[in-house]
Amino acid sequence: MKRFQKLIIAAAAVVCVGGAGAGFFFFWPHSLPDVSASALQPTGAALIARGEHLTIAADCAACHTTKGGKPFAGGLPFKLPFGTIYSSNITTDPEHGIGAWSDAEFVRAVRSGVGAHGENLYPAFPYASYALMTTDDILAVRAYLRTLAPVSEDAPSNSLAFPFNQRWLMRGWNLLFLPSRPFESNPSKDEQWNRGAYLVEALEHCGECHTPRGLMFQRKQSEALSGSEVDGWKAWNITSDPDSGIGLWTDGEIASFLSKGHANGHGPAGGPMREAVGLSLSKLPTSDIEAIVAYLRTVPPIESDEKVRVKRKSSIQDSSSKNSDETLGSRIFAGACVSCHGLGGDGLVNSRANIIGAHALADVDGSNFIRVVLQGSSDSMVAPGRTMPAFGAIYNDAEIAALANFVIGELGGKKGAVTADDVAKARE
Ligand code: HEC
Ligand code: HEC
Ligand code: HEC
Repeated sequence: MKRFQKLIIAAAAVVCVGGAGAGFFFFWPHSLPDVSASALQPTGAALIARGEHLTIAADCAACHTTKGGKPFAGGLPFKLPFGTIYSSNITTDPEHGIGAWSDAEFVRAVRSGVGAHGENLYPAFPYASYALMTTDDILAVRAYLRTLAPVSEDAPSNSLAFPFNQRWLMRGWNLLFLPSRPFESNPSKDEQWNRGAYLVEALEHCGECHTPRGLMFQRKQSEALSGSEVDGWKAWNITSDPDSGIGLWTDGEIASFLSKGHANGHGPAGGPMREAVGLSLSKLPTSDIEAIVAYLRTVPPIESDEKVRVKRKSSIQDSSSKNSDETLGSRIFAGACVSCHGLGGDGLVNSRANIIGAHALADVDGSNFIRVVLQGSSDSMVAPGRTMPAFGAIYNDAEIAALANFVIGELGGKKGAVTADDVAKARE
């Protein structure tokens, strides 16, 4: 995950520039928080059910359970140019997992990114969002995790080169950017809005992918949810801006996209968004989805660059691009894609193959388009059997670039700028 490279370099810079200050960061004590649950916290089975719901909403499994691996045994690799970080075993095993941790240690880890021995954890673990979780909720997650089977296997050890293996480098960053207290309800808004805000900002950590990052890899909260990148995928602008964001989507379209991974007129959710839908959003109760929609409606509009804006359907016909790749691209599209998607992209084989209006078709860089074509897309949980095959082994880089530029022109109404080089990079 290249996205953490910047962060670690930036953190190193903070500390090095600090000079003498570095000593302070190094010896800065990590006190344990006070972790008593409030009087409102349920007990027994109700507590565990609440913890399960919260564990799903916070999508802990996305990173702590690998494909085919044992639940919460960790081991998901986050690849960096200077080594690899692995997610931890958070099962109840006392030796290999976190069974021996106190509740206070658990709350500190989730909210402040500090491990049982006071060591700093890397923000591949999105604790900067979880910092907004309430103590009751973190304790409920713990209560649920305690009911799961222990797995007596260590996750592989991190292999980071010096100085990136110096965990204390994160302290400067935490000091600057970590929210200092949990989410507080805004009394001027209703309960549904506040629930939505909590889900978006804390549990579902939407901003970890959708909010642009600054030089220090911090989320730029003044541009919250206006679009960013995650592992080469573009996580689009989801502010209320009508042209750049989701301001023109109906409530029903947003709800359908989040809970089913597809909305007519906006296409399917691909890549990391597909995962968030499959593991987490599709399992939330309708009331939670409605709360998220209510909150998203009020996110201040921010305009994105013209290059990634979706064109209104009415303006597409006359601006369709004509380029030299066209014959190659249209030939591949006719041969390999039309049988499922239809000539107009509105889906022949099933409703999910309706890709009209998909943001991926309107991005001149074709970032998400290339990745879907290379890797395919399927979701056994949300839409079993409705799959998009992978074409990475069938076409070469130049062919996929030509295909992308053709489809972006034909269905997105933009002039695609995808090169064979872009495709080669996406294969890495
Ligand atoms: C986006 C990926 C991601 C998500 C989502 C995530 N984690 Fe993690 N988590 C990690 C990684 C990576 C590490 C290891 C960090 C390190 O080694 O510094 C980690 C470490 C931890 C640790 C420290 C374990 C130890 O042995 O030091 C705990 C506890 C933990 N996660 C709990 C959770 C819980 C609870 C959730 C859901 C509320 C969660 N994580 C969600 C990626 C994630
Ligand atoms: C792990 C990263 C990640 C997380 C977490 C995440 N998203 Fe996304 N999201 C993406 C990516 C990547 C895309 C683009 C998918 C595509 O083009 O197929 C996307 C697409 C979307 C879209 C479609 C926008 C458009 O113009 O087509 C919406 C709406 C959306 N996300 C909302 C959310 C909300 C709300 C949350 C939190 C509840 C969330 N996302 C959490 C990565 C993420
Ligand atoms: C066997 C049927 C099938 C074929 C062949 C096929 N697709 Fe798909 N495609 C689908 C389905 C179904 C989806 C929705 C996948 C999902 O929901 O996970 C999809 C999704 C997509 C998306 C996702 C858009 C987004 O926003 O994430 C793009 C782009 C796409 N297809 C392009 C193509 C291209 C280009 C070709 C030809 C090389 C092609 N497809 C061939 C069935 C197919």
